[in-house]
Amino acid sequence: MESRSKFTGKVGFVLAAAGSAIGLGNIWRFPYLAAKYGGGMFLLIYILLVMSFGFAIMIAETSLGRKTGLSPIGAYRVLNKKYSCIGAIASIVAFLILPYYSVIGGWVMKYLAGYVQGETIAMATDGYFGGYIAQPVEPIVWQVIFVVLCGVVIIRGVKDGIEKVSKIFMPILLILSIVVAIYSVTLPGGMEGVKYFLLPSFEHFSGMTVVAALGQMFYSMSLAMGIMITYGSYFHKEDDLEKSVKHIELFDTGIAIIAGMMIIPAVFAFSGGDETALSAGPGLMFITLPKVFANMGMSRVIGLIFFLLVLFAALTSAISLMEAVVSVFCDEFKWDRKKATIIVTICAILLGIPSSLGNGIWSGFTILGLGILDQMDFLTNSILMPVGAFLTCIFVRYIIKPQVFIDEVKQSSEFKREKLFVVVIKYIAPVCIVAILVTSILSTFGFMSI
Ligand code: PHE
Repeated sequence: MESRSKFTGKVGFVLAAAGSAIGLGNIWRFPYLAAKYGGGMFLLIYILLVMSFGFAIMIAETSLGRKTGLSPIGAYRVLNKKYSCIGAIASIVAFLILPYYSVIGGWVMKYLAGYVQGETIAMATDGYFGGYIAQPVEPIVWQVIFVVLCGVVIIRGVKDGIEKVSKIFMPILLILSIVVAIYSVTLPGGMEGVKYFLLPSFEHFSGMTVVAALGQMFYSMSLAMGIMITYGSYFHKEDDLEKSVKHIELFDTGIAIIAGMMIIPAVFAFSGGDETALSAGPGLMFITLPKVFANMGMSRVIGLIFFLLVLFAALTSAISLMEAVVSVFCDEFKWDRKKATIIVTICAILLGIPSSLGNGIWSGFTILGLGILDQMDFLTNSILMPVGAFLTCIFVRYIIKPQVFIDEVKQSSEFKREKLFVVVIKYIAPVCIVAILVTSILSTFGFMSI
């Protein structure tokens, strides 16, 4: 059999994994949650969680991948036959997220095209976004373009596809986001937004702050979806795993903070300090921001730069989802990369269509008030992902034992946070994951609000 292709080195791995981690979650979800849950307090708790909890799970996943050199299902199976189902759950999560993530990626492309064509004012009008996503054909066309772009990268392989794209996109994304953040902070009234974002506010702090930060951390670090197992399997034995994970965390959290600096001050400056403008949820990026941009100088350029960086972020995340699925098909069915990619691309397109139509002609199809796209999001992020993560912790603790993972990390370097890893995996992670699962279910069924 052909030997498994690998990233060229640490930098390629870190940028590709950071490319997966940095996505829509960092750019619109993180700033909005931070603003809602106590600003600096949320940030502090988030950073502590990333450094402890996120670190431990990411180490477990990447070392599992590197140790076995296999995609999620095979990785679990090699260590214990009975537990390949955990890998299967992770792969299913990735398989189900990709289609609807691509629908949103398609919206981003549409907005980018809008700024290229100079439709700055039209995109800022009330009802533009709702009217657009309700259309039956155009959003699907953009979604197809988005998925096909991912497929083109994946087909080129790990080194020439994923790694190359990440090495180009990620530095550009960092620079563009710093440019927009500087612009936003220096707007009249922008500093008020910075204060709101960064200064701790105890009145907004509650137990829910921790739960919200936990859920966000999982999503943002692309955990429990098989992605980090897959990317870990392309990582060289001699490269420093612990340091790489640290760099991914830094990159992911850094971009989330910069995104807060881009969005919150701009919204503050535009709305005269009205915090409620921040609570628009998904609408924040597609409805509020175009209005903000339309009222600023250089609106077309800023809008264009902003949606370009969002597109890069979304593309590298979607690429990682697709790779996690393609690698499973290649390993399990012994398909070649081309065949697996073409089939996964077609499936993602077909499965994405209902999520897109659910905003328009199929909007009548709701469960618990959720449209099709939100149902997919709920099923994957609120149910399957925490279940998968919980099973992973149990697997590491009881079936394989943490020592196996520790040995794997130590193959390439000393393991500085070894004790932390053991304590988190054994005791803290399972409890916290159950907390996320219960609260997200209760909030969806309307028993509490997150
Ligand atoms: N981590 C990505 C983000 O922050 C989201 C993502 C989820 C990416 C699942 C891949 C898989 O937006």
